[in-house]
Amino acid sequence: MSSGSVRKGRGPRPDAEGHMLTLKWVGGSGGYLSLLDQTLLPARVKYLRIRELSVVIDAIRRLAVRGAPAIGVAAAYGVVLGLRETASASAAGARRSFARVKKRLAGSRPTAVNLFWSLDRMEARAGALEEEGASFPELLRGLLDEAIEIHAEDQRLCRAIGRHGQKLLRSGWSVLTHCNAGALATGGMGTALAVIYSAVEKGKKIRVFADETRPLLQGARLTSWELRRAGIDVTVACDNAAASLMGTGQIQCVVVGADRIASNGDVANKIGTYGVAVLAREHDIPFYVAAPSSTFDPHTASGAGIPIEQRASIEVTAGFGTKTAPPGVDVYNPAFDVTPARYVTGFITEQGLLEPPFKRNIARLFRTAATHG
Ligand code: MRU
Repeated sequence: MSSGSVRKGRGPRPDAEGHMLTLKWVGGSGGYLSLLDQTLLPARVKYLRIRELSVVIDAIRRLAVRGAPAIGVAAAYGVVLGLRETASASAAGARRSFARVKKRLAGSRPTAVNLFWSLDRMEARAGALEEEGASFPELLRGLLDEAIEIHAEDQRLCRAIGRHGQKLLRSGWSVLTHCNAGALATGGMGTALAVIYSAVEKGKKIRVFADETRPLLQGARLTSWELRRAGIDVTVACDNAAASLMGTGQIQCVVVGADRIASNGDVANKIGTYGVAVLAREHDIPFYVAAPSSTFDPHTASGAGIPIEQRASIEVTAGFGTKTAPPGVDVYNPAFDVTPARYVTGFITEQGLLEPPFKRNIARLFRTAATHG
């Protein structure tokens, strides 16, 4: 990481809707990506100024930017940085470099399908610009506009998810969520947390229980932080308290996000989500998954086909610098698990609530998204 490419920014900065700004492109095609370094939260708010592709890839890998939709948006901006570095004399030369840039970004994290969706969309735009005979500066500008549009679209999708999802929550309810599917995980107001924000905006009294989400504590560090900033009643609970919370009648609904949803409705999300879904079923509590259509994968038939990222053992044995297991011990550290579709009450998408039968209704979602896209 070159010190010239990452500099401390000003923060904290709310976006137009008052939520924390996760990332933003600053300037024209010679500009930079301003990105909130989430590894430092909640202790420090620091924005990175990123001008190099390798730094974007590193930020995605080390979870400085994380959450499926935010990874997709960061990757779109990463394409612009990567192509700019090639300093190709021609649009055709830059097009040839595209495959290499795409491959490097695609190798950053394997599970969130939004990453691949976003790269495919940028590639299609690059192809169209080349066909139109765009010069290299025009290609860069056109791709930056596409990345900005993907970002703006994500904001609109989040708001629509919130609008549809809030109808499912009743005033006085306590909602359990796992990991962070909030503003910090998207280019907008979140997916699962958009449902909460929108319900509260409607005047409903909602209490949130945030699973702390071992090993990287996205619930404790990020969800509780952003909800508190928004003035929302939030309580952090250890992951292993979920059964007790449900068993004692303290949870009325579960809402989580997703990294990839297979065509049959199986859901990959943060490790531990599967257990929460099984517990919810046992206690007759609705379990909703909030996600935009870009998180549904038409090319993956079931959860068995979703690649699950395995992460470094140190996250478990010495997370945040404290040794919590003997050095050298074998560790199982998948970043995600797959919740079978039968545990999902419904998917809250930008198009509304998607209920069983999932296979048929997800196919319909793909058809509508294709018509609108
Ligand atoms: O490893 P992370 O922090 O990227 O995992 C994030 C999640 O699992 C989120 O729940 C998911 O990406 C949905 S974000 C709207």
